[in-house]
Amino acid sequence: MKRIKIIAGISLFLIFLVGCETEKRFPPKGYIPNTPTATSKLEAQYFWSPQNKISSPYWKAANYVEVKIKNIETKNLYGDGILNATGTYNGLNDFNKGNDPLIKLKAGYNDEYLFILVEWKDTTANADLFTWIWDGPVDKLKNDSADNWTSQKNHDNISLLFDKETSDEKDVWKWSLAYTAPFDMALNLNADRNGVTDEVLDKPFYWNSSGSTNRSGPAYEWNGERQEILLPGGSLKILDPAYYLLDSNKMDINGDVEAGQNVFNNIADCRFCHGPNGNGIPDGYTFGPPLNLNYTNKYTREGLVEYIGSEAHEGRGFQYWGRISNNITHINNLIAFMRGIAGIPAHILKVPVEEPFISAISNISVGGISSVNKEYKVLFIRKLNSEDPEDVSFDPQKTYSLSIQLSDNDDINYIGSDGTIELIFKSNKL
Ligand code: HEC
Repeated sequence: MKRIKIIAGISLFLIFLVGCETEKRFPPKGYIPNTPTATSKLEAQYFWSPQNKISSPYWKAANYVEVKIKNIETKNLYGDGILNATGTYNGLNDFNKGNDPLIKLKAGYNDEYLFILVEWKDTTANADLFTWIWDGPVDKLKNDSADNWTSQKNHDNISLLFDKETSDEKDVWKWSLAYTAPFDMALNLNADRNGVTDEVLDKPFYWNSSGSTNRSGPAYEWNGERQEILLPGGSLKILDPAYYLLDSNKMDINGDVEAGQNVFNNIADCRFCHGPNGNGIPDGYTFGPPLNLNYTNKYTREGLVEYIGSEAHEGRGFQYWGRISNNITHINNLIAFMRGIAGIPAHILKVPVEEPFISAISNISVGGISSVNKEYKVLFIRKLNSEDPEDVSFDPQKTYSLSIQLSDNDDINYIGSDGTIELIFKSNKL
């Protein structure tokens, strides 16, 4: 068997050589055909044409590093009012429900850019960042009350940490499903021994809060218009309103959530079928689906009102919707409450005005986030050279080392690479 492999290998090599001799145009379109194999170092191959999409052919053929993982940070909890936001509390036992995320790294470069593709398994996509939820679920790890507004859930994120040549600090590239994925970018950060140090000045989001604590509740909600954006690089994106709220698509919260709770449970008796606070455990004999899940936020206010009063809805009758259908205050309060139990995005996204310094393209469609996910693929692209001495500049004659850390529905507990991974640049000469 081994001999056959060797013979096959030699023949392929000969065919390759002959191919080079007779046809000088090799390699076709700029990548070297290869059977992907696991390597111990991260080998960046030279590209003749940029492989800047996840679907670019190079990434299917590239060698890869299988990242050995360990717990980096565990058992951390957030302060009062932030609940169910530590999905990696037990590290490897929690991440991807305890299944090995099978992290792979691939790399490539051309004269201008370094490309690093990270792939890992995570069967749930978490795109929240302390989403405001009214009377949300309690957190089994904490004693906090979940009454009224709390900040709930967290985002899936990954950081690449490059060792700097001149200090023991690290140059950090961070991607988040909550706030960088919509813009095909990663944040450019710094870390020292105690972790990530700098506050990002030009971060693409700000807090959507009516006060100063994690129980204050939101100031804004979605205005119901399609969240379509044109990125500085020219690509068009649509953002799912159940997870993302754009600066240009926000409006003041319309209605009183607490009054709406009374409309829902008592005045219009929605609880008869949908259960108290829309928990899906009906008071009556007719089953209505739970309404405290964020999918109702994919609908506009008008869309919800139209549906609730429509022939298609069992709750349209005079003893339910009929009792408030002529009262605009009750209706606004009811919908505000429904927004509250479904969850209102707690961060407002601002479209960057310039092309990002670190691009990061992912396989996730931000126009319709599905909580059921298979895997993540994130392709980081950065110029080899940076003007900023805080950043690592890459010289293909040298080697570099990096580590990675990532979390699943968390941002204070992490798993990551066991040690550093060496990045080497393969020669651009054939
Ligand atoms: C008599 C039972 C009943 C009552 C009362 C009722 N609903 Fe419903 N509702 C349903 C059922 C059943 C569905 C699932 C779709 C269907 O078959 O109509 C539903 C679906 C919905 C949906 C859409 C959920 C989805 O799956 O897209 C919304 C929103 C909704 N109800 C809101 C309300 C509100 C608000 C009230 C109170 C004014 C209310 N419902 C009262 C039975 C009821």
